[in-house]
Amino acid sequence: MAENHNEIRKMIKERFARIAKAPETEKKFPIGAESAKRLGYDPQDIEGLPTSVTESFAGVGNPLLLDPIHEGEIILDIGVGAGFDTFIAARLVGPSGKVIGIDMTGEMLTKAENNRTKLGLKNVEFRKCLAEEIPLEDESVDVIISNGVLNLCPEKEKVLTEAYRVLKPGGRFQIADISLEDGVSQEEVAKLGTWSD
Ligand SMILES: C[S@@+](CC[C@H](N)C(=O)[O-])C[C@H]1O[C@@H](n2cnc3c(N)ncnc32)[C@H](O)[C@@H]1O
Repeated sequence: MAENHNEIRKMIKERFARIAKAPETEKKFPIGAESAKRLGYDPQDIEGLPTSVTESFAGVGNPLLLDPIHEGEIILDIGVGAGFDTFIAARLVGPSGKVIGIDMTGEMLTKAENNRTKLGLKNVEFRKCLAEEIPLEDESVDVIISNGVLNLCPEKEKVLTEAYRVLKPGGRFQIADISLEDGVSQEEVAKLGTWSD
């Protein structure tokens, strides 16, 4: 089973390494600034970010709309990609807050870190790890955000257990994701494809 999980992760990493380095090659799923606009992000937020952030945006919704982010909060962005939601959240929490972005794909994290430098943000840090093994203390985070990631994780229960562990009591879990509805056949799933195929 572990081998199977690692094979799934390998395919996903290859896909997102490509979306980091050559986003224009993604033809199957909507990505980029136009997609963010359709998902309800404020156009000013989108335009305020460099193209090197927006071009690799691969979210499926807007987790920041689920509840306001407050100044001074500690945010964890699971599956940060090139940093789109993280950089918007960093502005909302301000210098007294902090955003930690985690991702398992090295190429995405390199891009996110280059983007952090470009934006001159001191309240953002990135860590390379699995969502299933979050390297943070228990009860250390006010809000978890995540956009289009849980559906890609082969061990969803582990991710949720880790999320619960690192959230402070009363912390918020604000995620946007895709899920299968009841009654969708395996044939239909195969026809629509997945992020990693
Ligand atoms: C659909 S993209 C979304 C990226 C970002 N949230 C955004 O909205 O642009 C999914 C991201 O999650 C990362 N990812 C997928 N599975 C992961 C896992 N098990 N642990 C850590 N990161 C993972 C991928 O490397 C990729 O960068």
